[in-house]
Amino acid sequence: MIVISGSASPKLSAKVADLLGAELVSAEVRRFPDGEIYVRVDAELRRKPVAVIQSTCPPQNDNLIELLLLLDAAKDLGAKRIIAVVPYLAYSRQDKRFKPGEAISLRTVSKLISQSGAEELITVDIHQEETLGNFSIPAFNQSAMPLIGRYLRGLNLKNPLIIGADQGSIKRATKVALELGAEHYFLEKRRISPENVVVYPKNLEVQGRDVVMVDDIVSTGGTIIGAAKILQEQGARDVYVACAHPVLAGNAAQRLREAGIKQIIATDTIEKDVSVVSVAPLIAELLK
Ligand code: R5P
Repeated sequence: MIVISGSASPKLSAKVADLLGAELVSAEVRRFPDGEIYVRVDAELRRKPVAVIQSTCPPQNDNLIELLLLLDAAKDLGAKRIIAVVPYLAYSRQDKRFKPGEAISLRTVSKLISQSGAEELITVDIHQEETLGNFSIPAFNQSAMPLIGRYLRGLNLKNPLIIGADQGSIKRATKVALELGAEHYFLEKRRISPENVVVYPKNLEVQGRDVVMVDDIVSTGGTIIGAAKILQEQGARDVYVACAHPVLAGNAAQRLREAGIKQIIATDTIEKDVSVVSVAPLIAELLK
């Protein structure tokens, strides 16, 4: 197998290639003066299975186009079986129509990837697993939550409580809690706008305990900050955040620190300073 690294996932691609003992190819990615993206894959791919690894993290649209161009180039070079590995799949939260006229963005992104030469898709902690049905190629999701649970074990947390940041995160919180042998709950939230959420308080027994808030994505940090405030008021000792995808839009990391979050624990589906857990073993295993 050949692993082609997109420019959004260079370290993760290298780790996956290493675990597979596969050749790693870094594509040439440049910009034309007008901003269009140029991609070239300089490798012998004919009749070889190929994994293209590229997260569609910010800048989402550029990274998505780069992914599509890489898949197209691999097809053009005669690869035998092309697998799109998209550790963070952008637009996955826009998977329904809430108001008439709203685009179901995930459906369009799925169509683009399905028609770009990829024969299979692999992703990590997609927002809602059932939305993989939008792809017309086989699509697989792996959860990084057990790996996060294992990382948390090493932190020696005090009487830890794992909390799903909202109802959608119950399953994720359960997976983390199982690894830790800890209790878990979830909070309820309502999103008023992309930037504003209201988190409803619940009386949880957090007094003197370390609390880990679990979510798939931390973007503006609004969900976590709202929840952390409630937990701190109820006497939690230290509040941690664990997520698969550290989007951390704008100054979210700073806002989380100012809100008294002890540590942000994230994976390398998006390569950031907080990416202390690698999903490379999950991806390598699926590729095998
Ligand atoms: C939404 O349902 C997701 O699971 C996350 O809770 C959300 O994307 C987090 O976004 P933010 O950090 O902007 O509150």
